[in-house]
Amino acid sequence: MRYNNHVNRKTNQSHNPILLTVEDLHVYFSIREGWLSRQRATVKAVNGVNLSLQQGDVFGLVGESGCGKTTLGRAIVGLSPVSHGQILLKGRSIVGLTGQDAHERARQVQLIFQDPYSSLHPRKTVCDLVGVGLKLHGLANGYEIDEQVLAMLKRVGFNIDHLYRYAHEFSGGQRQRISLARALILRPKLLILDEPTSALDVSVQAQILNLLKEIRQEFNLTFLFISHDLGVIRYMSNRIGVMYLGHLVETGATSDVFEHPQHPYTQVLLSSLPSIDPDTPSNRTLLEGDPPTPIDPPPGCPFAQRCPGVKPICREQAPELIHHGNSPDHFTACHFPHVD
Ligand SMILES: Nc1ncnc2c1ncn2[C@@H]1O[C@H](COP(=O)(O)OP(=O)(O)OP(=O)(O)O)[C@@H](O)[C@H]1O
Ligand SMILES: [Mg+2]
Repeated sequence: MRYNNHVNRKTNQSHNPILLTVEDLHVYFSIREGWLSRQRATVKAVNGVNLSLQQGDVFGLVGESGCGKTTLGRAIVGLSPVSHGQILLKGRSIVGLTGQDAHERARQVQLIFQDPYSSLHPRKTVCDLVGVGLKLHGLANGYEIDEQVLAMLKRVGFNIDHLYRYAHEFSGGQRQRISLARALILRPKLLILDEPTSALDVSVQAQILNLLKEIRQEFNLTFLFISHDLGVIRYMSNRIGVMYLGHLVETGATSDVFEHPQHPYTQVLLSSLPSIDPDTPSNRTLLEGDPPTPIDPPPGCPFAQRCPGVKPICREQAPELIHHGNSPDHFTACHFPHVD
């Protein structure tokens, strides 16, 4: 069974409807040079990704730096250009929207950035920052805005004294709470969280992660949760996707992927997780070969250059993301997956 067929189904095992479908998504960037701006190369940042999110999912997206996680998230919110493929929100295309449709997508799909310092205007009050979306989307007027802003700020841990303070007066963790309030006040369906806690220290990180968990349930949200931190992904997500060089190489229920990784890249990635038991020796595997570049990548499997089990077919033919093993939701793009 190919992943394309899998994503077209209307329901999952627990009968949650599909909220987001990404079909064969490609995001390419041209690198140009010279005064004629001649195209020198193409960066294939996202190179044929298929995935689906059911309502209520926390879908964790992992992979090493530069594999295309942010670009995929930005394409879903319309900030990265889609070169080919489709993105559907509740079955309706959200690619290339303009006017009122783009405005409505901007409300329904919200992005929380990694850096809480640059994502909020330091000279705006919290009230302005959180309330501006209500005005823009015509969701409230006058004193209703202040009321709703205060209610949302209270929900994320502030009080009335914070309402007219400036963003620059807050710590990183507090700023992420403000970003969250600003997104939630618009009652979105989908939150894309791009490394939302990696700029924070560990104790603040835990508070924000727990707040996110509560809020997801309370507001009936779906998360695309991007992180390179496997511990955070495991704690937050019910399903995960592993990206490598613009491709989704493995996807499945978090427990299946963590306990029975099928793709050699996922196995290497998971071997870097420290063991809880100090007596268990670390079996960390290090990747050989150069870090990959998405500029004009070679044909075949994207992992072939660094794969310890590479065979001739891997360098010629790109493997499809297909079902392997016993769990119905476990899909891997490898000619020789490890299935136990
Ligand atoms: N606007 C752009 N123009 C050209 N190349 C870009 C652009 N945006 C991203 N890229 C390239 O696309 C690739 C994927 O980048 P992306 O930021 O999506 O990776 P990432 O997985 O989020 O990495 P990280 O974990 O470091 O945040 C990288 O090689 C990056 O340099
Ligand atoms: Mg990124």
